[in-house]
Amino acid sequence: MPVIQSYDFDQVINRNGTASIKWDEADRLFGGDHLIPLWVADMDFQVPVEVTVALSKRVNHAIYGYTTETEGYLESVQKWMEERHHWSIEKDWICHSPGVVTALNLIVDGFTHEGDRVLIQSPVYPPFAKSALNQNREVVTNPLINDNGEYRMDFVDLEHKLSDPKVKLMILCSPHNPVGRVWTKKELTKVAELASQYDVLVVADEIHNDLVFVGHHHTPYAQISEEASAHSIICTAPSKTFNLAGLQISNIIIPNPTLRRNYLKQVRRFSLSEPNTLGVTAAEAAYRFGANWLDQCLAYIKKNADFVTNFLKQNLPNLEMTPIEGTYLGWIDCRKLGWDKLHLQNFLRKEAGLALNQGYAFGAEGEGFVRINLACPQSLLKQAMNQLQFAFQQNL
Ligand SMILES: Cc1ncc(COP(=O)(O)O)c(C=O)c1O
Repeated sequence: MPVIQSYDFDQVINRNGTASIKWDEADRLFGGDHLIPLWVADMDFQVPVEVTVALSKRVNHAIYGYTTETEGYLESVQKWMEERHHWSIEKDWICHSPGVVTALNLIVDGFTHEGDRVLIQSPVYPPFAKSALNQNREVVTNPLINDNGEYRMDFVDLEHKLSDPKVKLMILCSPHNPVGRVWTKKELTKVAELASQYDVLVVADEIHNDLVFVGHHHTPYAQISEEASAHSIICTAPSKTFNLAGLQISNIIIPNPTLRRNYLKQVRRFSLSEPNTLGVTAAEAAYRFGANWLDQCLAYIKKNADFVTNFLKQNLPNLEMTPIEGTYLGWIDCRKLGWDKLHLQNFLRKEAGLALNQGYAFGAEGEGFVRINLACPQSLLKQAMNQLQFAFQQNL
């Protein structure tokens, strides 16, 4: 019987002085002093032990020349998709990119032309809009509907916008950052039908695909149908799942050979063909051995989400956590306060001492919300909630 390693996610690990953007840059970027950093999406947890072992072995080799995608890496991605998501992929569908955001920029640049429009579903991860604007493409938004705190897609508006012949590309966030929805197969099927009908390429950013809580199920977009597979590019990565963002590797999975050829042309054009040496090693180890760590990590994050939800309900009822089905990002509705966005931002930073992402950065629909990173020891969230409550008590 193999021994199941048990992880202690309560352990507080000092990240200050490790060139961590989340920790070392928070005060400077937000303008504060000793802010609790609950913003950018990485975790304050150590990675699966097998990843550290594989990296140490690779580091000790002490030669870090140009690297290729290894057979082991490709196999590990293929096996992970099969075992975790019941999605059968071919190894040669797997391309890579240093990051999903890099891939989005390459795709917008390579698959659309100036004057074309790119559709996003706001509020959504800000680099989606930027990847279009960077290339002088127009952004078209299909705002999500917020039904008393529950988000869903507006399919009438989506059809209307996809039927615009200038809309050539849709960037789908699945699961969705920041609203925490894990789209159902039914919802994704409807998106796929509309995208096929209007001949729109779908880039499914599935970077949060593995971060799904019990009771919810992630469906890879390309698994919906033959058509969906033929008109999509699927972006996944070990970076969010296993906390490897600094190692710069993501998997860009493209079943359609023509689309794949075009993507690889872009990769070569921007000289991104060689993956990060340590990234490849870490990705392979994480996918091969990380499932147990991930299951424990998800259970811990869910407890953190429940803690924040209940704390707000009991102590600060004007702040409401949106029900979260996946991701480790909580989306808190602060609109009942009736404050304008700058007032909310200044209060959280100056009075509560928290570095949180402001909702308006995710699009106009995010105004009055804040995003909180739940992937940290619960003691830090407790401290953050206490500071928040104290700030309200002092300022009422
Ligand atoms: C939806 C989404 N896509 C992409 C990224 C970043 O990906 P990368 O670091 O691989 O560029 C994030 C990070 O939070 C994200 O939430």
